[in-house]
Amino acid sequence: MEKITIAIDGHSSCGKSTLAKALGNALNYAYISTGDMYRAVTLYFIENKVDIKDPEAVRAALQKIKLHFELRPEGNCIFLNGRNVNHDIRTMPVNELVSPVSTISEVRKEMVRQQQEMGKNKGIVMDGRDIGTVVFPDAELKIFLTADVEERARRRYNELIAKGMKVDLDEIKHNLEERDRIDSSRKDSPLKKAADAILLDNTHLNHEQQLDKVLQMVKEKLWETRV
Ligand code: DC
Repeated sequence: MEKITIAIDGHSSCGKSTLAKALGNALNYAYISTGDMYRAVTLYFIENKVDIKDPEAVRAALQKIKLHFELRPEGNCIFLNGRNVNHDIRTMPVNELVSPVSTISEVRKEMVRQQQEMGKNKGIVMDGRDIGTVVFPDAELKIFLTADVEERARRRYNELIAKGMKVDLDEIKHNLEERDRIDSSRKDSPLKKAADAILLDNTHLNHEQQLDKVLQMVKEKLWETRV
């Protein structure tokens, strides 16, 4: 059967990667959370004390960064120079620096290049902020996912608490709002709904309901694009 490209964009912590993973599994497609790539670059910058305001230092650092994904029982894990950083990229220091890092055009150019390479054969679900607008503007199915910020903060809080992390709900909510603000107002590839993306607000939807809705959209797209 013909394979399509599915782009999922939207606000921070509204379940884009959970949905991408479930869709990938249901359709037997690859899935990539591009936020993990920006997070891994941010982790490298923190660990190696790269001055993000120094374009030369950023350029030199990017050349030393090798990213790849490997499917593990816990999901598609990102590796930074051969090290599984799936856990380390979700800490508060990374949360706080990742949006500023992702405003850097050099960083975006390199990430977009790698993402386009990963998805060149279609049969992929990719989630992020600019997938439907910049990475795959021709994706057959584009979804723009969102949810109330209170609900998103609560979900992220429960997720981190379940992982045994010590976190504060207000701090999480503030971080989400700040990331949304930076992501939506940056000059290079700001977060915005592509004109042809379908808006999906999942504030009152559980995982199964979302997956059902999107699988129905996929069915319709496959029907429309059949030759
Ligand atoms: O999806 P996430 O919350 O893990 O993403 C982390 C940050 O990475 C987010 O604040 C903005 C940035 N990002 C981006 O600029 N472009 C993407 N395609 C994906 C993420």
